[in-house]
Amino acid sequence: MRLFEALEKIKKEALISFHMPGHKNGRLIGEALANPLAIDITEIPGADHLHEAHDCIAETEQSIAEFYGAAQSKLLVGGSTAGILSMILGTTRRGEVLLLNRNAHLSAYNAVQLGELEPVYLLPKLERRLGIPLGFDLETFKRLIEAHPEAKACLLTYPTYEGVCYSIREMIEICHDKGIVVLVDEAHGAHLKLNDAGPSSALDLGADVVVQSFHKTLPAMTQVACLHIGKKNILSERQLNALIWHLRALQSSSPSYVLMASADLMLSVIERDGVQKTKEMVENIRWFYDETAELKTLGFRRFADGDPGKLLLEISREYYERGDWDGFRVSSILREKYGIQSEYETERMCLFMAGLANEKKDFETLASALIEMDKKILSVEKARRAGVLEGENLSPTYELVLPQRVLSAAEAAAAPFEAVPSADCVGRIAAEYVIPYPPGIPVLVPGERIPDTLIATVKREKNEIKVLR
Ligand SMILES: Cc1ncc(COP(=O)(O)O)c(C=O)c1O
Repeated sequence: MRLFEALEKIKKEALISFHMPGHKNGRLIGEALANPLAIDITEIPGADHLHEAHDCIAETEQSIAEFYGAAQSKLLVGGSTAGILSMILGTTRRGEVLLLNRNAHLSAYNAVQLGELEPVYLLPKLERRLGIPLGFDLETFKRLIEAHPEAKACLLTYPTYEGVCYSIREMIEICHDKGIVVLVDEAHGAHLKLNDAGPSSALDLGADVVVQSFHKTLPAMTQVACLHIGKKNILSERQLNALIWHLRALQSSSPSYVLMASADLMLSVIERDGVQKTKEMVENIRWFYDETAELKTLGFRRFADGDPGKLLLEISREYYERGDWDGFRVSSILREKYGIQSEYETERMCLFMAGLANEKKDFETLASALIEMDKKILSVEKARRAGVLEGENLSPTYELVLPQRVLSAAEAAAAPFEAVPSADCVGRIAAEYVIPYPPGIPVLVPGERIPDTLIATVKREKNEIKVLR
């Protein structure tokens, strides 16, 4: 089956969306965008030009900057990916040190490779049962900064894919004390501004450059994102100019007006009702947690400083170990039997992304599906799953391992390689990335020696892996 037919088939399923994009199948902006081809134009008079904006696009960007409290905001049609590449490549020069959290998105690793930068990794704390990254230890961070006074920029992912927030204000201050520019991948946080009761946006906490995917958590079309320059940024003029140059160089010279229009429509929605709709969403989520509080085989994990829009369903240990349940099964039953699509799943969990566009009935359907599934599992007896160890990290997404870096990613990518069966790769030097997707966070980077602790992950992702000859 080809693409269009496959999409039509999915459309007919009329799925309840707890995944990206944030318009949840066209809600909130769908009516205005009902005939997208009519506005699929190019840079004709009256339509302005993204890369030299002075008219309607400039006005939209100005309104975005005012709404978010930025010195300047630039619309992106290449997703946060384009913004992350540009902010890293714009603020660093070849051979310079970039501090970055090891759980950074692939785009940050690509920037390191393209810019031939020296990466210094900051390891996150890990929630071992779920295998997801949390925040950072501030003392360790301080020591890392002390050890690398030559670093030019620090990239932080905030919130994490799973919605975990942490003490980023303090981290920004620590960097600024040393003149290090702070770049924040806030791809999952464009909506934080709308909720006073929740974690703040890094833009309000002093970050220099912040990139947000509007399409992930707000009602905008896929690929629509934004790069904000902070009001008190410490960028040099050269860095700012280089950053803007990279935005032009890395994005299409024919940016889609449909995508850009969806950002403008999204802005109108959040200017008008964003705060109210967020309150309703938080209220619906509270109701949802009360409703599902008695689940036995499943349960929701909540983090003190978490984004309320990320609902993290954990498979209860006993039922996981007995082989009754895993995240993949939960997700496929939800899709096949109840028409509900989650964002992503691992063996131990299933992530649901709620947004302003989700209505109360979506939460009701999800709650009753989970309650029904829970009852069914309770009535079934299954054999114990063998080999599950207490505390074992079961997630296919993250490992608490920092492999030895033998060559830079750029050097390794240019070196002769061979493919070997993944089972035989321990001790070899990787010539390619290993990136479980989602969430698109590399666990192995070209140039790193493959440790035996990563073998299970490599085998899960690939039958063969390219290694240096
Ligand atoms: C943490 C994080 N940063 C950046 C990105 C890239 O964003 P985009 O899809 O808008 O290019 C993603 C995508 O999933 C992500 O999860």
